[in-house]
Amino acid sequence: MQELPIVRKSLAVLLDDYYANDKTSLLTFHFEPASFSSSLDRLKSCSIKHASIDNKDFYILDQFFLEEEEEEIRELFEKASYSRFSYGSLESIDKGEKPGRSMNNQERWSLFSRYPPAIREVYKLFSTLADQMNADLMTLPWELCHGKASAPSIITNYHEEITEESMLNGKHQDCNPQGMISFGIPLLYGQEGEFHDRQFINGDTGKPWMISLMLYSTSKDFLPSEYQMGTVFYHDDGQEALKAHCVNTRMVLFEGDISHSTDVSKIPSEKKVWRTSYVFKLVMNPKKKEQNLKEDFRSLMQKGLQEIEKVATGLYARV
Ligand SMILES: [Fe+2]
Repeated sequence: MQELPIVRKSLAVLLDDYYANDKTSLLTFHFEPASFSSSLDRLKSCSIKHASIDNKDFYILDQFFLEEEEEEIRELFEKASYSRFSYGSLESIDKGEKPGRSMNNQERWSLFSRYPPAIREVYKLFSTLADQMNADLMTLPWELCHGKASAPSIITNYHEEITEESMLNGKHQDCNPQGMISFGIPLLYGQEGEFHDRQFINGDTGKPWMISLMLYSTSKDFLPSEYQMGTVFYHDDGQEALKAHCVNTRMVLFEGDISHSTDVSKIPSEKKVWRTSYVFKLVMNPKKKEQNLKEDFRSLMQKGLQEIEKVATGLYARV
């Protein structure tokens, strides 16, 4: 049994001239399929909550990490540097969103490539999922750029405050397969060099499943339900569906086309706290035409899965 997850890189093919410039990087990373016993054990013992937002799946994984890893992760994100301003969306820059901070190219490359032990568990989980689901699990291209806007596939966002305007203006989707995908996703059961259609229903049978995984970290004295700054998820019609609190080492896995934004902060003025989210934008690509990865993932998570309670039509309890 191998000890370390293997990450293979490849270059995606750009299908949209909009992003054709020298700032765009088409590097993608594939987590080689391998089932790690530590990942399988953790999946069995951690807490997994689920909700469905307009038929798109949303999961929360808590207690996945060991106690010492929880501290390691907190320290990692506390000491990291974040040299870039970050905005929820391009429109939000013009609307005056107060920016958070995020890692520049070099900072996020150093975090991604250096694999501190606790983060290695995330990579092991990715390799395990790829193996268990018979899929190729890859990241979106490293960074798609156009003018001022850039969409990185792996990024850490750091916030000490979120205003109401930032929350509203920062609403976005991480991907939009029902609109149009900008790069080629290889058709693994087709001819060499063939791609999936650029437009598809996320996670449909035989189609890729585009998901994001977000790992939160917070300062030690952060009170998640009081201070907020977790993530708000929205229905297709823009109504709030669910609020996930930002709990240190909590992982949120969701279909990348669910609209979301960072929740407004409610932090006493004398208090100085921070929170980060380490986001991986991913594609799970089926190896066979009859596979439905979205359903397969739900079956894999089934053991101990808790449904999040609904408090009103279309509105879930805050978790
Ligand atoms: Fe996002």
